[in-house]
Amino acid sequence: MAKILINSSGPLSGSVFISGAKNAVLPLMAATLLTSEECIIDDVPSLADVTVMRKMLENFGSVITDDGKGRLSIRAREITTIEGSKDLVREMRASTVVMGPLLARCGEVIMPLPGGCAIGKRPIDLHLKGFKALGADVDLDMENEIVHIKAGPEGLIGDVIYLDFPSVGATENILMAATLAKGTTIIENAAKEPEIIDLANQLNKMGAKIKGAGTDTIRITGVARLTGSIHTVIPDRIETGTFMLAAAITRGRIVIKNAIPGHVRPIVAKLKECGVTVETTEYGILVDATDRVLTSTNIKTLPYPGFPTDIQSPFMAFLTTVEGPSVVRETVFENRFMHVNELNRMGADISIENREARVPGGKHLKGAKVRATDLRAGAAMVLAGLVASGTTEVSEIYHIERGYENFVQKFKGLGADLMRVEED
Ligand code: EPZ
Repeated sequence: MAKILINSSGPLSGSVFISGAKNAVLPLMAATLLTSEECIIDDVPSLADVTVMRKMLENFGSVITDDGKGRLSIRAREITTIEGSKDLVREMRASTVVMGPLLARCGEVIMPLPGGCAIGKRPIDLHLKGFKALGADVDLDMENEIVHIKAGPEGLIGDVIYLDFPSVGATENILMAATLAKGTTIIENAAKEPEIIDLANQLNKMGAKIKGAGTDTIRITGVARLTGSIHTVIPDRIETGTFMLAAAITRGRIVIKNAIPGHVRPIVAKLKECGVTVETTEYGILVDATDRVLTSTNIKTLPYPGFPTDIQSPFMAFLTTVEGPSVVRETVFENRFMHVNELNRMGADISIENREARVPGGKHLKGAKVRATDLRAGAAMVLAGLVASGTTEVSEIYHIERGYENFVQKFKGLGADLMRVEED
């Protein structure tokens, strides 16, 4: 297994180009199952998770080619099986986002249950509630850990669906299933993330009739069939936030290119509260933390447009270095503080009470051997390593490589002293 070695790096400087969003491209790829025509997706990031989704779609019969420059051509001319691969679902739980498209296209789907992960149980009850509301029969076989979903004799029928929690994945699955349902579907308390809007934009290019994506009420008028499309993935707002924090934690000054300022407002607001300068310029987003004392703030993660849970751990790494105590409250996932132990191995001295972490701040972190406990926590540990004395060794970096394209190269381009090595 590979690891990343990081030496204390001093203030980062220069510019970095943001890749296509992992959490947008995965549902965009799944949506291609809704048509037998060719779909083109541009700005696809080269990520392990994209590779898994490619294998998942090929498993269902899709033919996929890529030009090596981020353009994917995907064509599900015909679906050759309605059964998802257990190995692939285990490898990436987000592959469950193929359920909605398959149910709409074929009227039936058999999917292994994704199971939990490091950050939480990750149930799919809201996804299944939506499919039931569209008239499907849902058979949950807990013993074999699979779910068998079958549309009614008339196919899927539109209805009103209230999401008890604005789940991103459930919104995406139900949205895609509803595009080919008879009649109108209304999703209430829908997720409002930019990735939902990106998916709706591609679906509407394919001939779907979706209104209200990005608000808490999405209305879908079913159509008989969808066509192919050409669509470009939005830039990754979580990668954007990660590099903003790289500038902040090292007291550097960087320009972030190809980012959408409107997608990172809560992160910008919180960085400004700490005294970091953040400005939108014609070249990109300027983040300047040079020559100043930075102070603490409190963070509470919430569904979009609240503070993103995916930036909680990188922001916490930054808060260990500012003057004064901070409180970080995680409300979206029940177990997303696994990085606290790792930061404490570096001298962060963070304590946890229920779903609140108390970060004393003012620390000079020390290099240590630490683990990436999830994708974003891995990034947080690299950020901490940039400012820790000595060398920090981050292991289990396969997590990081699932979601950050050219991670090490991009940091090296900003002056970071780090390298990727194979574990001995
Ligand atoms: C998406 O996961 C993202 N993944 C996550 O990013 C992100 O953290 C999350 O949304 C929240 O923004 C992808 O888009 C591939 P949810 P998802 O359904 O869809 C509960 C990363 O690091 N819930 O909004 O799985 C669930 O347990 C990853 O890139 C139910 O109770 O998130 C959790 O507590 C990590 N029942 C909360 O909702 C359900 O049926 C948020 O889950 C579904 C979800």
